[in-house]
Amino acid sequence: MNRLAGKVAIVTGGGAGIGEAIAKKFAKEGAAVVVAGFPEDPVQAVADEIKASGGRAVAFEGDLASEAMAKACVQTAVGTFGQLDILVNNAGTFPAAKELGEYPVEAFEYMIKNNIYTVFHMSRAALPELKKTRGNIVSAGSEAGHMGEPMNTPYGGTKGFVHAFMRGIAGEQAKYGIRANCVGPGPIDTAWTHKETGPMTAEMEKQTVEGVPMGRRGTPEEVANVYLFLASDEASYVTGAIYFADGGVTISKSSSGAQVPSDLKKEPAGELKLEHSKDGHTEIRNQDAGHMMGH
Ligand SMILES: NC(=O)c1ccc[n+]([C@@H]2O[C@H](COP(=O)([O-])OP(=O)(O)OC[C@H]3O[C@@H](n4cnc5c(N)ncnc54)[C@H](O)[C@@H]3O)[C@@H](O)[C@H]2O)c1
Repeated sequence: MNRLAGKVAIVTGGGAGIGEAIAKKFAKEGAAVVVAGFPEDPVQAVADEIKASGGRAVAFEGDLASEAMAKACVQTAVGTFGQLDILVNNAGTFPAAKELGEYPVEAFEYMIKNNIYTVFHMSRAALPELKKTRGNIVSAGSEAGHMGEPMNTPYGGTKGFVHAFMRGIAGEQAKYGIRANCVGPGPIDTAWTHKETGPMTAEMEKQTVEGVPMGRRGTPEEVANVYLFLASDEASYVTGAIYFADGGVTISKSSSGAQVPSDLKKEPAGELKLEHSKDGHTEIRNQDAGHMMGH
C-alpha cells in the first residue's frame, strides 16, 4: 500500500500512544516520517522500529511548544528528506482529573503549553514549506473539544481551540493549496484512559468506557487510519473538517456501552506492531513548563 508514497510527514507526540500508530501507519504507506517528541519520549525507538521494517524515519527531540524547537523540527524534515507535505499535530497532555474548583493552575498552564502552543508554533513554522508542496495539516482534536469534558474542563477547552484554529487555517490557507483538518478521538486505549497510568479514578474509567455506544476504547491504529485518510490525496476536497473516531460518543452521552455484549467489545488486532502504546505521560514533568508561561 502506498497511499502516502513520496510524502514527508512530521508526527508530533510520535513516540507513544496514538502518535506511534500514526508514525508507523504513515511509514507503512510510503511516507518518510519525522517522529517528534520530548527528549524523554521513545521517539528514537519508534524511528528505529520504522527503519527496521524498511521505512524511512528520523527522530526529533525537543519541546515543541517553543518557537525555536518548532522551527528546528520543520528544518529536520526539510534537511533530512528535502520537503514537508504533512504536519500531524498530535502531541498533547491530560495531566489532571478534578472539578474546576480544585483544578490545579499549573495543570491548566501545562495543557495550554502542550495542547495549544505546540499546535500554534508547529503550524506556523510548517506553513512556508506546506505552501511549496500544497500540503496539509491534521491536528488532534477530541470529542471533548466538541462536547466539553467534565472533570477536566480546561482540557476540553484546549481541544475546542484546536478545532476552531484548524478551521481558521483551512479557510485562510486554501488559496495556497493547503488543507487543514482535525481528528476527534473518543477514549482511546493509551496510557491516559487507564486508572493505573492516567489521572482517572476507577469510577471515571468505567463511566468513560460505558459512555461509548460501542462499549470499548478505540485502538491507536483505528485513529491512525482516519489520520491517514485526511493526510492523503484521497481527501483532496476535505478541509476544515473534524472527523470523529469515537465509537459514537458524540452522538450519545448515556451509559449505553454497558449493554454491549463482550464479544463486540474486543479491540481489533490491526496490522501494526505497536511497542509504545502505553508509554505516554500525562503528568506534569518538564519543569520549564512554568517558565514559558511567565512564572
Ligand atoms: N487517548 C485518548 O483517549 C485521546 C482522546 C481524544 C484525543 N486525544 C488526543 O490525541 C493526542 C495523543 O494522545 P495519546 O493518548 O496518544 O497521548 P500520549 O501521552 O500517549 O502521547 C502524546 C505524546 O505527546 C508528547 N508531547 C506532549 N507535549 C509535548 C511537547 N510540548 N513537545 C513534544 N512532545 C510533547 C508526550 O510526551 C507524549 O509522548 C493528544 O493530543 C490527545 O489530546 C487522545
